[in-house]
Amino acid sequence: MARRCLPWLALASLPLAAPLLALEPPSTVARWAAACNGCHGPEGRGSGAMPALRGQSADALAAKLQQWQDDPAAATAPGHVMARFAAILEPETLRALADHYGTAP
Ligand code: HEC
Repeated sequence: MARRCLPWLALASLPLAAPLLALEPPSTVARWAAACNGCHGPEGRGSGAMPALRGQSADALAAKLQQWQDDPAAATAPGHVMARFAAILEPETLRALADHYGTAP
């Protein structure tokens, strides 16, 4: 009896499990963007003195991040918070973030 019920029980619980299966872990870009938005405002639209990332060209954003990466001294200079973030971005994540916030050239 119990054995006969098991397949039905599994089937009946499928709709309950479906939403859980649909939950994918956030992508690398989404996780980074959450951190970026902490300073750059909701969706990177700027906040107080923090520059807006949205609305800038993706290439310009990537170039700026790249510039910080290319200058290791910048990452240790006091107050240069961005250089520290840029320094730890993988090249593909850097580009993906620039594309995420920026506009097509
Ligand atoms: C702790 C706060 C903070 C976080 C988090 C942060 N930023 Fe910044 N960002 C700044 C500040 C402050 C500036 C202004 C430039 C400077 O002095 O470093 C800036 C500038 C920039 C610029 C240059 C914009 C311009 O108009 O010149 C880019 C591009 C940028 N950030 C991208 C990012 C990305 C992408 C992330 C996430 C990986 C990020 N930032 C996370 C504080 C932050």
